[in-house]
Amino acid sequence: MKKLAALGGKITGTLNTPSWPIFDQRDIDYVGEAVKSGIWAFRGPIEKEFEEKWAVYSGAKYGIACTNGTHAIRMALEALGIGPGDEVIVPALTWQATAASVLDVNAIPILVDIDPTTYTIDPKMVEKAITPRTKCIIPVHLYCRLADMDAIMSIAKKYNLYVVEDCSHSHGSKWRGKGVGTIGDIGAFSLQASKLLNTGDGGILSTNCERYRDLLQSLKICGRPSYEGAPSIQSGNFRMTDLQAALGVTQLEKLPEQNDHRLKNMLRLEQALAGLDCIEILRKPEGITYQAAYNYSFKYISEKAHGIERDVFLRALRAELGQSDEKNMFYRTYIPLTDSPLYRPFSKHTHKISDEYCKAIDPARFHTPEANKAYYKEGVNFIHYVLLGPASDMDILSDAIIKVCTHLDELKEVSAAAGLGKEG
Ligand SMILES: Cc1ncc(COP(=O)(O)O)c(C=O)c1O
Repeated sequence: MKKLAALGGKITGTLNTPSWPIFDQRDIDYVGEAVKSGIWAFRGPIEKEFEEKWAVYSGAKYGIACTNGTHAIRMALEALGIGPGDEVIVPALTWQATAASVLDVNAIPILVDIDPTTYTIDPKMVEKAITPRTKCIIPVHLYCRLADMDAIMSIAKKYNLYVVEDCSHSHGSKWRGKGVGTIGDIGAFSLQASKLLNTGDGGILSTNCERYRDLLQSLKICGRPSYEGAPSIQSGNFRMTDLQAALGVTQLEKLPEQNDHRLKNMLRLEQALAGLDCIEILRKPEGITYQAAYNYSFKYISEKAHGIERDVFLRALRAELGQSDEKNMFYRTYIPLTDSPLYRPFSKHTHKISDEYCKAIDPARFHTPEANKAYYKEGVNFIHYVLLGPASDMDILSDAIIKVCTHLDELKEVSAAAGLGKEG
């Protein structure tokens, strides 16, 4: 009788993962109030309330709500005056928006590799990539760790560069006691439906600089100054509506408790997995004083599992949890931008400015072996609301992982099944 569920054995257990988003009557009532107010957008009172409450929560002087996280990064770059001829350093392992926003301002995204111990941008590679054209670094606080902000800020100071933090995975995290998004010049957050703070779609920026606040407030509303005498800048429409902002206010009320719950579960899981030969927990830089855990990542080391591929491990793990492969709560990391089907600068005419520019933005010119290794070989990722389940879910999950990792002979048999190792 086989033990592994993928071979017909008994499953370890099923998870009681809550469905996402989590909402209650308060969310419904407040969106209703926004509707009843008749002020649905355009610097409405609830948008303002959300911005102020966000600033307090994130530890920034100012919050600026906007359409989404992609636009938030673009607006930050525009407020900083970044544009044609400028190079902006971004990690190769991130959602495409981090680099696509750089293209949106006609600047050049420079893809650099990640630190394999944290999956965040590698400061050594950042420094190597600096040229006289470099203007800005966009570290991404990815998954369940933060970029090394001590190293990034000291490089930025040494070379006189701007820093825009992409905080779309890290609402509420702190680096040495400071909220993410307030360490660099501007922080950009997505509030898209899968994110820790969810307004359906939406984005919010954090900054401590009054001038950037004014420029961002102007950028979001077609260049209108936000008060008489405020600086303004030509732009389009990047407004958040008051209906979304109402959800921002009520969901923000729930965030601290949800973050604490996720963190507690994350630590419980990490404790249970410590010491497993073929599993590696990502390193926690000491600067992290509070971790808001988004999609959780760890490494499966096939060399320590008789060479059995990560995708085989993933299939066996899903089977242990009684999940179909289609449910897909457990998957690979992002595909590196060098290979991403969604990061294709030349598919858009806007980017064909000149031969020189096309050469500069060609993703194929960048080599990022560690980001490749994360996606193609080692990275295992699961959706954040698994961490919102009861503590007992973490025991089921760790038991399932341990079971798979301690039945390697059977795992080899799973690997013989058709179609494995070909997940997208
Ligand atoms: C790291 C990162 N940056 C930027 C974004 C863009 O955010 P949005 O989808 O709200 O435009 C996302 C969202 O998916 C993200 O994960």
